[in-house]
Amino acid sequence: MRESKKQVINLLCLAVGLMVLSGCASDHPQSIFNTAGPVAESVKGIFMFTFWLAVVVFAVVASGLTYVLINFRRHPDKEGSVPDQIHGSVKLEAIWTFIPILILIAIGLPTYNLIQELDTYQQPQQDDLVVNVTGYQWWWKFEYPELGITTANELHVPTGRRVILNLNSADVLHAFWLPRVAGKRDLIPAQTNQLWFEVDDPGIYLGQCAELCLGAHAYMRFRTVASPAADFEKWARAFNQPANQQAAKGDAAQLDQGKQLFMSKGCAGCHTIDGVSMGVTGPNLTNFGARTSVAAGVLDNTPENLARWLRDPQEVKPTNKMPTLWQADDPNRDQEIDALVAYLESLGADKPELMATIQAGR
Ligand code: CUA
Repeated sequence: MRESKKQVINLLCLAVGLMVLSGCASDHPQSIFNTAGPVAESVKGIFMFTFWLAVVVFAVVASGLTYVLINFRRHPDKEGSVPDQIHGSVKLEAIWTFIPILILIAIGLPTYNLIQELDTYQQPQQDDLVVNVTGYQWWWKFEYPELGITTANELHVPTGRRVILNLNSADVLHAFWLPRVAGKRDLIPAQTNQLWFEVDDPGIYLGQCAELCLGAHAYMRFRTVASPAADFEKWARAFNQPANQQAAKGDAAQLDQGKQLFMSKGCAGCHTIDGVSMGVTGPNLTNFGARTSVAAGVLDNTPENLARWLRDPQEVKPTNKMPTLWQADDPNRDQEIDALVAYLESLGADKPELMATIQAGR
């Protein structure tokens, strides 16, 4: 009996210890406490206010309870006597009804105000950047209607400017969540939800689908690249160059073979590269070489990682819908993958500064 009690206590200590330790990570790129914009800042403000109010309530209730437990415990010399009965005391009933009402009002009013502020449909102002976001199992499409740009898994925004997202889903429920910058909102098929945010400082902010959407839900990530207005415009301009002009990096014969493979291996049926193909079921790959990640934020976009992804997509991101394009015993596999990697990486502008930022942020 005593032995089993000891075991239970040990297990409890272990569980509490693990919970405390789990808060010790020095790297928390998706922490809502490390805010990077006014929307996240206001949400954090409400959270902290509610938290400290809860701390005060806990302190008052716990000290009252402790006082009662100590002062009114059973006394040997009062054995058998019944304490004063306070059942039906109007004064006490009124106090413990009234105080919670005040607490709820104190929390409810600012929360309601903030919900109104963040929720109201904001008719885009001239200066706003509008992005249409569509969730797919398990990646993100980002369209900039005013700029004529469609991209995937990497949301580029200028700093200090309001961004309005129109959120939609192509299949099941997803949720857009960019913890350091914005709140969280569902993406629902055949319904447009809105979310707006602003980013204060340049940088790369990690986002994540926050609604269980089966399969690779945990790998349905995205990156938000916030840059000063001039850099954002540079990025947008690079997008509107024809793809064949971009493909000028590397060995011409290899790039040509890569492009042929892109057409013949079936990639073109699912992916768009402006001026090359028009597939729509997979992420748009125009300007892919300038992107920082492969497989919706799962791997950094390096030639090695892209080759790993093409060789066995299921190994990188289990259950995703990208087919395996080469049999394991195909003698041409490695050579062809190298050519396809060279072609895809040649699309678009360079990305060294961005990659350095991401790596520095780790
Ligand atoms: Cu999309 Cu979870």
